Amino acid sequence: MVLGQVFVFLTALAVVGLMSVDIIVFPECGLTGCNYWDRNYVIEEVAEIIPSPDSGVVPCKKKSYTQRNSMYVAVNLYEKFIELDNQNDTNLHNKSNDILLYNTNIVFDRFGRLIARYRKFNLYAERTHLGVNSTKEPEFSIFTTDFGVTFGIIICFDIIFKQPVYGLLYEKNVSALIFSGAIYSQLPFLVVPSLVSGWSYSMNTTVLFSDMPVKKGSVGGSGIFMGKSDPLRLIMEEHYDSKILISKVPKPVSSANLPSLEEKTHENEKSNFCDSMFIADEKLDYYTYQSISQNLTHKCNNLLMNSFNHTNENYTCTIRAVWQINSITNQSEYKFLSYAGERNFSTASINNYVEVCGLTLCHKSPNGGCLEPPIFEDAFSITMIHIDIFSVSTVDAIVIPSTLNSSLHPLSVKNFRFSKSKTRIGNHENIIVHMNLIEPVSNLITFGFYKLPEVSNPDPASYHSRNTTELN
Ligand SMILES: *[C@@H]1O[C@H](CO)[C@@H](O)[C@H](O)[C@H]1NC(C)=O
Ligand SMILES: *[C@@H]1O[C@H](CO)[C@@H](O)[C@H](O)[C@H]1NC(C)=O
Ligand SMILES: *[C@@H]1O[C@H](CO)[C@@H](O)[C@H](O)[C@H]1NC(C)=O
Ligand SMILES: *[C@@H]1O[C@H](CO)[C@@H](O)[C@H](O)[C@H]1NC(C)=O
Ligand SMILES: *[C@@H]1O[C@H](CO)[C@@H](O)[C@H](O)[C@H]1NC(C)=O
Ligand SMILES: *[C@@H]1O[C@H](CO)[C@@H](O)[C@H](O)[C@H]1NC(C)=O
Ligand SMILES: *[C@@H]1O[C@H](CO)[C@@H](O)[C@H](O)[C@H]1NC(C)=O
Ligand SMILES: *[C@@H]1O[C@H](CO)[C@@H](O)[C@H](O)[C@H]1NC(C)=O
Ligand SMILES: *[C@@H]1O[C@H](CO)[C@@H](O)[C@H](O)[C@H]1NC(C)=O
Ligand SMILES: *[C@@H]1O[C@H](CO)[C@@H](O)[C@H](O)[C@H]1NC(C)=O
Ligand SMILES: *[C@@H]1O[C@H](CO)[C@@H](O)[C@H](O)[C@H]1NC(C)=O
Ligand SMILES: *[C@@H]1O[C@H](CO)[C@@H](O)[C@H](O)[C@H]1NC(C)=O
Repeated sequence: MVLGQVFVFLTALAVVGLMSVDIIVFPECGLTGCNYWDRNYVIEEVAEIIPSPDSGVVPCKKKSYTQRNSMYVAVNLYEKFIELDNQNDTNLHNKSNDILLYNTNIVFDRFGRLIARYRKFNLYAERTHLGVNSTKEPEFSIFTTDFGVTFGIIICFDIIFKQPVYGLLYEKNVSALIFSGAIYSQLPFLVVPSLVSGWSYSMNTTVLFSDMPVKKGSVGGSGIFMGKSDPLRLIMEEHYDSKILISKVPKPVSSANLPSLEEKTHENEKSNFCDSMFIADEKLDYYTYQSISQNLTHKCNNLLMNSFNHTNENYTCTIRAVWQINSITNQSEYKFLSYAGERNFSTASINNYVEVCGLTLCHKSPNGGCLEPPIFEDAFSITMIHIDIFSVSTVDAIVIPSTLNSSLHPLSVKNFRFSKSKTRIGNHENIIVHMNLIEPVSNLITFGFYKLPEVSNPDPASYHSRNTTELN
């Protein structure tokens, strides 16, 4: 473990310990670092052997910080797991025993007992760069707290795929998720708060999300997301800048009206675009795009209207928009964007089928300019957007609304409507998604629909064989 990081964690525990907090969630890589690109990083040196949660073990009996602070604590570690070749062989150093490495979240209860362990199923670059393994089947790891909430656990890249999320929500019936991440933002549709709040909204599930952006200079965005209600807390954060978000969270099991909230904060809100904050893994050339003002269908004084559609045999995206120009600008413009096809999300993944349909503010340039932060001039007010999607592909994938305003916040749930329905025509299942603005907005960056990939497809060629260093 990185000593400086341990200090940050202990400080965090001490601070929230004074506030009768029930549960604290730390980000992915928080203790170990996410040093995918550091050739000198030896993962075995930071990986720990983690006992099974069934053993009810208290790993640090004397100086348990979780015990002293009396709260549930979720942390992320690299786990070293020794698969004994012969169950009777107690010698862990035996060379014939397989050493597996997992990216693992563990949870301690108020007494420091280990009560849950989850091994990340959908690996990002840690498989190719660090030799981390995944379990063959997704684990549905849950724990029930003494305040009556059953949590499921997921890590980072897990958020975009069907499993283990569907198992947790539909089989284990969890009412909230603990989500540790090290995610960075990608314009225009996958800025972290847009992704997680859209996800929470779409799945109507409370998410306690703790993020640490993995690439230098990039931003993530931690928060407490509340399903069909607005997030209780939300920040964009920069690399290695530690902040604690605290909020009273209404119990997700109850369907009563939300109580009024008392909030405490330990950070300054940040709201400006900064070039280095975004990483353009996305490629604009796979989108079909068009300036919103090209071939206008209606123009009435300064009220403009246009529509756009993009269709293939499996997919239709239709967008209609009405807007108003407050001041003439030659720097930025909205573009309609649509894509149905494959993209890869990491060095290790291939053929992830996604669908995207929406509009975003771009630089005024013939070849896109939508992947960099837009120049925000307050030049437009959007009075109406209607988006309709019809799709017959990957009908079980998670679909989310992706919205973003110039403060890098997703729109309030009061500003838009989003609905998804699954129907059957003949032998074909299909989904219909409808999304629209409820009231005019003047600080819009992005408004659209994103169908996330159903399953991750790791590229077998990217599994590297590595020399495991001697255990000691
Ligand atoms: C190591 O494992 C092999 C195969 O299971 C076994 O035959 C051998 O006795 C073990 N060696 C030690 C030192 O335990
Ligand atoms: C392990 O030990 C038990 C009892 O000592 C024995 O019955 C069993 O055959 C052993 N298993 C192996 C794989 O050696
Ligand atoms: C664990 O990962 C390493 C590195 O990718 C790989 O060589 C090994 O075969 C994996 N083990 C299993 C059981 O999948
Ligand atoms: C989850 O809910 C479904 C439907 O209400 C029920 O059939 C199932 O047994 C529940 N599963 C668990 C693990 O509670
Ligand atoms: C979302 O979940 C809450 C309870 O957590 C429930 O009261 C509400 O009706 C749900 N909303 C929708 C649209 O399903
Ligand atoms: C739309 O605009 C483009 C460029 O301004 C033009 O080339 C094209 O003919 C127009 N299409 C229609 C249907 O008017
Ligand atoms: C979509 O495209 C079709 C064919 O090009 C056209 O007939 C239809 O009017 C378009 N719809 C919208 C809303 O633009
Ligand atoms: C439509 O779906 C079918 C069946 O999955 C597939 O073979 C075909 O390539 C898809 N077409 C496009 C344009 O994606
Ligand atoms: C933008 O418009 C302003 C005023 O109309 C003009 O002075 C400026 O040169 C234009 N900039 C570019 C890059 O076209
Ligand atoms: C995925 O995309 C990244 C960045 O564009 C590229 O470096 C990587 O090789 C791609 N991976 C695969 C498996 O195609
Ligand atoms: C962006 O949206 C949030 C609510 O989601 C709101 O609090 C904030 O004021 C908005 N910012 C702007 C510039 O409109
Ligand atoms: C593994 O280590 C051995 C001995 O140190 C070395 O000869 C071999 O080339 C290494 N293999 C790989 C794939 O690095």
